[in-house]
Amino acid sequence: MDGLQFTKEPAPFVITIFGATGDLTRKKLVPALFSLFLKGNASQFKVIGFARRPWTKETFEAEALSMLSGGHFSQVPESQKRAFIEKLDYISSTFGDPEGYAKLAEAVAPWEGKLFYLSTPPDDYPVIIENLGKAGLNRTTHGYSRVIVEKPFGRDLATAKELNEVLSTQFEENQIYRIDHYLGKETVQNILVLRFGNGIFEPLWNSRYIDNIQITVAESIGVGTRGNYYEKSGTLRDMVQNHIFQLMTLLLMDPPNDLSPDTVRTEKVKVLKSLRPITYKDINKYTVRGQYSAGVTQGQPVRGYLEEEGVAKDSKTETFVALQVHVDTWRWEGVPIFIRTGKGLGRKVSEVAITFKQPPLQVFRNQASDEGQNQLVLHIQPEEGFTFHINAKIPGYTTQVRPVNMDFAYGDAFGEATPEAYERLILDALVGDSTLYTRRDEIEASWTFITRILQGWAQDPNPLPQYRAGSAGPEEAKALTASVGQKWRKL
Ligand SMILES: NC(=O)c1ccc[n+]([C@@H]2O[C@H](COP(=O)([O-])OP(=O)(O)OC[C@H]3O[C@@H](n4cnc5c(N)ncnc54)[C@H](OP(=O)(O)O)[C@@H]3O)[C@@H](O)[C@H]2O)c1
Repeated sequence: MDGLQFTKEPAPFVITIFGATGDLTRKKLVPALFSLFLKGNASQFKVIGFARRPWTKETFEAEALSMLSGGHFSQVPESQKRAFIEKLDYISSTFGDPEGYAKLAEAVAPWEGKLFYLSTPPDDYPVIIENLGKAGLNRTTHGYSRVIVEKPFGRDLATAKELNEVLSTQFEENQIYRIDHYLGKETVQNILVLRFGNGIFEPLWNSRYIDNIQITVAESIGVGTRGNYYEKSGTLRDMVQNHIFQLMTLLLMDPPNDLSPDTVRTEKVKVLKSLRPITYKDINKYTVRGQYSAGVTQGQPVRGYLEEEGVAKDSKTETFVALQVHVDTWRWEGVPIFIRTGKGLGRKVSEVAITFKQPPLQVFRNQASDEGQNQLVLHIQPEEGFTFHINAKIPGYTTQVRPVNMDFAYGDAFGEATPEAYERLILDALVGDSTLYTRRDEIEASWTFITRILQGWAQDPNPLPQYRAGSAGPEEAKALTASVGQKWRKL
């Protein structure tokens, strides 16, 4: 019960949401702040919405009430919701208008803690950052000033560096919180506890015992109405550079000496810097792209990507990526890491499968057995927990072996509703804990690797393989795992 998130007490604060009339504010930010309020993690605070629409404080309050009307808030008494919306205020301004920032400066002046959340189109980050600086809102002389920057953080190494430069002209690194909501997920954080809070895993967590690792983040839906956005992004940028690399670094990092933000992040960066570059010459050996064609996923018909609204008829944007990566360190030499992620796949699932090597001598190999390699599967979504696949004797007079599962389900063990990722992350920013946020060198190291692949693909004249919506992705992806005698796990 006493998880860290229940015990952190932020000092009185004001949070300004740039882009307060947008989708993320509606779906995630206001609900997260309300949850913190309900759990007693936020008592003295104010929320200022900042966006272009000519809303007033009253409109923002009414909108916020509607944001809190459904789902698990439907049972919460109206009085609690009213008490929360009293804390809201709204400034109608474009992001380029100094007057808006003058009003903002006045509104936030009495508060010691000032958190600015950039939930806006990424092209607007620089103008907001510069205006915050001009209005003196980056100063830390009276309390703190921190800024949360949403994804995407750049679209390649050059643009990520540019954005880092803009940020660093106005803010110190310890004021900057680059968010990746994957790190707010309980099961992702549990990777650290599993690895470093138990004595049994770490001795095995290396190339002597681990054969390969598979990371899967599959979505069953297509791009839907977000074709326009997706065309500019693609799966590699949208999922791999950020979320999947965060998962991967937590899985592969060396044990930190302590849990301070910089110690943990320094270990994560080392993994990213040790990734073996994939250049044009190896682009088809280690990467597979694909685009979904029309099909049915989970009973729902899905249009082909090229038929989606906002998508160019000759688009080469990938909706699926499979990669084989190598981390050139003492610990991981020779262990292939397989990554696959995409849209329009047969099932929505996020998981990590760690496959262990066979015992040195397979003494049961001549029995009529279905012996498998030991596997530890970390379930991230939709189930949360993990499964161990181990071999056991089938009862009977002969010695036959079959894999069995040992399951651990989060819900069964703790019976707690896990907090939403944004709740945890906003609270961390409020108490000044940046462990679960991405540091400058971390983001640049991941873009360095990803940008080489993007450049390789740009030179690759081959057409993109298609895969039927509802399938497990393009057939071509099978070659990656087959190259080391393995198969992708069934979706
Ligand atoms: N939506 C999600 O589920 C999601 C998930 C992960 C990350 N993100 C990231 O979060 C950020 C916000 O996404 P979103 O989906 O909420 O975007 P959105 O719905 O398009 O909202 C954009 C917001 O920015 C405001 N805005 C745009 N230009 C402005 C200007 N010149 N001056 C003042 N206000 C301006 C809009 O105000 P008006 O409408 O009043 O003009 C609106 O409040 C993006 O970086 C996105 O990549 C979103």
